[in-house]
Amino acid sequence: MKKSSVQLVEVGLRDGLQNEKHQFSVGEKIEMAELLIAAGVRRLELGAFVRPDRVPQMTGSAEIIKAVLGKYGSKIQGSALVPNETGMTAALETPVKEVAVFASCSESFSQKNINCSIEESLARFESVFQAARKNKIRVRGYLSTCFACPYEGKISAKKVVALARRLYKMGCYEISIGDTIGVAGPKDVEELFKMLKKVVPVAKLAGHFHDTRGMATANTLAAYQLGVRVFDTSLGGLGGCPYAPGASGNVATEDVVYMFDSMAVKTGLNLDRLLAANQWVKSKMGKELPSKVGRVGRLKPLGKVEHR
Ligand code: HMG
Ligand code: MG
Repeated sequence: MKKSSVQLVEVGLRDGLQNEKHQFSVGEKIEMAELLIAAGVRRLELGAFVRPDRVPQMTGSAEIIKAVLGKYGSKIQGSALVPNETGMTAALETPVKEVAVFASCSESFSQKNINCSIEESLARFESVFQAARKNKIRVRGYLSTCFACPYEGKISAKKVVALARRLYKMGCYEISIGDTIGVAGPKDVEELFKMLKKVVPVAKLAGHFHDTRGMATANTLAAYQLGVRVFDTSLGGLGGCPYAPGASGNVATEDVVYMFDSMAVKTGLNLDRLLAANQWVKSKMGKELPSKVGRVGRLKPLGKVEHR
């Protein structure tokens, strides 16, 4: 019988660090990437080509991409966020072969995050797609606030589906569905992905679940049960968007690997090495990371207990 498998897209170096006060040096980010690759990570975001005054944590993305792809290029699928032509021009000066555009399902979040309306953002992506086609670069698409927006509240699933369809038609090879503020539960995920599957092949959909309310592993499982096989995860459960107040980290890579290991679903990742990488990040940041499995590790029996 064919074993089930999933692909995890490690977003720890981008989503994970973009909202952290602690600033990692370029050298430290390269070391973090190497620890992740040693743990089996093959798809990972290495940075973002956005305004350094808006997200200073992403400064140095070009150097990181050059170093990591220079060493591991053929072995890994490295990517970077690109919001517009300026970002794409910067990306083209690196060896990156995949970029990710990001749009929102709510007008307010779009304005706060990328300083334009949803329609304007899609128009801006046209030049990104043109350059991508010319330079043989894959484009992934993110949709944010797919369940709710921190400014507008609940978002209509119909709107999400229509935008996912447009991103797919524009040429995104995969659409990552973001619960930006971690508000969805498994039933919401089931309902939305059932609708999405009707317009975008399920093999082209990914889940991007933030864990603000502790639902992210449950949401990952709900999407898996509907046939989704690609999930964005972040080492240690770090993450959050500077323009999504109140949102906390992404679902932790360690927690998702632990869950899929327990179901005999292959991730290609080594939990012990991820736990070692978690310890490294923790020592650099000087604080415990949110990941549950990252905190306690595997089961370690405490000794025999006398039962009366
Ligand atoms: P803007 O201010 O609208 O851009 O920024 P503009 O075209 O009006 O240009 C103004 C200035 O910015 C110019 O410089 C441009 O050159 C410069 P000046 O002439 O004044 O010196 N500029 C840039 N510089 C560097 N890189 C660029 C760039 N574009 C223009 N790409 C922009 C628009 C989107 C760039 C800005 O609003 C921005 O950087 N926003 C930050 C977006 C961000 O990184 N958010 C976090 C990631 S998204 C996320 O976390 C959600 C996700 O995880 C999924 C989920 O959870 O839902 C993906
Ligand atoms: Mg995110």
